[in-house]
Amino acid sequence: MENPQNLRFVTLLGSLRRGSFNRIIANALPSLAPEGVTIEPLGSVGDLPHYDADLQEQGFPAAVLEMGRAIAAADAVIIVMPEYNYSVPGALKNALDWLSRLPDTPMFGKPVAIQTASPGMIGGARAQHQLRQVLVYLNAQVLNKPEVMVGQVADKVNTVSGELTDQSTREHLAGQLVALAQVAQQQRQIMASGSVQ
Ligand SMILES: Cc1cc2nc3c(=O)[nH]c(=O)nc-3n(C[C@H](O)[C@H](O)[C@H](O)COP(=O)(O)O)c2cc1C
Repeated sequence: MENPQNLRFVTLLGSLRRGSFNRIIANALPSLAPEGVTIEPLGSVGDLPHYDADLQEQGFPAAVLEMGRAIAAADAVIIVMPEYNYSVPGALKNALDWLSRLPDTPMFGKPVAIQTASPGMIGGARAQHQLRQVLVYLNAQVLNKPEVMVGQVADKVNTVSGELTDQSTREHLAGQLVALAQVAQQQRQIMASGSVQ
């Protein structure tokens, strides 16, 4: 791949916990991005009210509109989340439900990478499958591989400094960002040529 040209990725974090392992991973991503790619966090999913069609009728909440605008302006979204009871954390699912109702459907065709982390052995693998299913309805363009499931994450971070310390995890994440940049670059060209449906 040629060097990506000014690609902008945004991260959507599925944990509200201040000391979140997934937050540590999301925070590490800008330093792992390939040249030409910038990565910025979206607003917190905790700032969105519970989805309610009556609320929607009164007008989308400002935090939803802002999140939608930021996603629409980005070349790709990276979802970083824990697994809750083998599934997607409720606050993140709520954000996706809101986003799916926005008239300009910002997730439609958007390249998306998924990253999960857990103190458990398999790093949130089961929740990834459920998230993929949700993203089918949103018609996002989900990166299949490389998959990122960080197991035993407590051994791979420094919770005092907030750093992701495990070198092989850092390399694996960097590899996924390269793959996402390739897809985002291709998608940008398709959009520019006007050939997307
Ligand atoms: C409600 C709840 C359900 C959980 N379910 C799972 C699970 O299904 N699989 C898993 O590996 N860990 C599970 N855990 C443990 C989380 O992986 C762990 O709390 C993790 O630190 C949460 O991510 P965070 O540090 O980014 O907030 C669960 C935790 C909570 C609070």
